[in-house]
Amino acid sequence: MKHINLIAAVGEKMELGFQNQLLCHLPADLKHFKSLTIGHTVVMGRKTWDSLPIKPLPNRRNLVLTSNRNLHFEGAEPIYSPEELLAQINDQEEVFIIGGASVYKTFINIAQKLYITRIEGTFEADVYFPKIDTSRWQLVEETYISNDDKNPYSMIFQTYLAIPEAKPAHPRNN
Ligand SMILES: NC(=O)c1ccc[n+]([C@@H]2O[C@H](COP(=O)([O-])OP(=O)(O)OC[C@H]3O[C@@H](n4cnc5c(N)ncnc54)[C@H](OP(=O)(O)O)[C@@H]3O)[C@@H](O)[C@H]2O)c1
Repeated sequence: MKHINLIAAVGEKMELGFQNQLLCHLPADLKHFKSLTIGHTVVMGRKTWDSLPIKPLPNRRNLVLTSNRNLHFEGAEPIYSPEELLAQINDQEEVFIIGGASVYKTFINIAQKLYITRIEGTFEADVYFPKIDTSRWQLVEETYISNDDKNPYSMIFQTYLAIPEAKPAHPRNN
């Protein structure tokens, strides 16, 4: 089975970003992101790749989704469809979908885990995280991080696990 996680930081209205930038600078969240993704595979859309100040993300396998076969991503591998991504990763690999909005929307239905940072603030935004359907996702862990001189907003680190689909009843038991 593929190990697919989504990781995102959202505002109170599920905001993700504005004008191809993150909502705000939160070093505590960047540290959390790094600790979870380091040594693993990160997958992002081409626009998120464009927005990264440092790329590729060091010490991680970087994969970039694009439909443009003429683009070259220094230090990252291009991927041309979600199906190609699934074919490229092996079952031992821990994969983190790191955005943006279009890529979260594509993978939320096949992921097993969500790491969501709930930023306690509202922001101007032009992209949003998809709705987290509580009949499919169970909140299993949360940690509160208070704001401080380096982090202008408080935040909650949440982990959701996909609820296994209810198995259909065996015909003989009906
Ligand atoms: N808050 C967070 O945690 C977080 C995390 C990441 C990003 N963001 C924010 O999200 C925003 C970017 O999100 P976005 O939705 O505009 O862009 P995006 O998802 O980063 O990138 C979109 C691009 O990815 C490629 N792509 C997506 N799906 C594809 C598919 N099925 N097949 C082939 N290529 C595909 C296409 O590239 P081509 O156009 O090259 O074909 C598409 O234009 C920014 O504001 C960024 O800062 C926020």
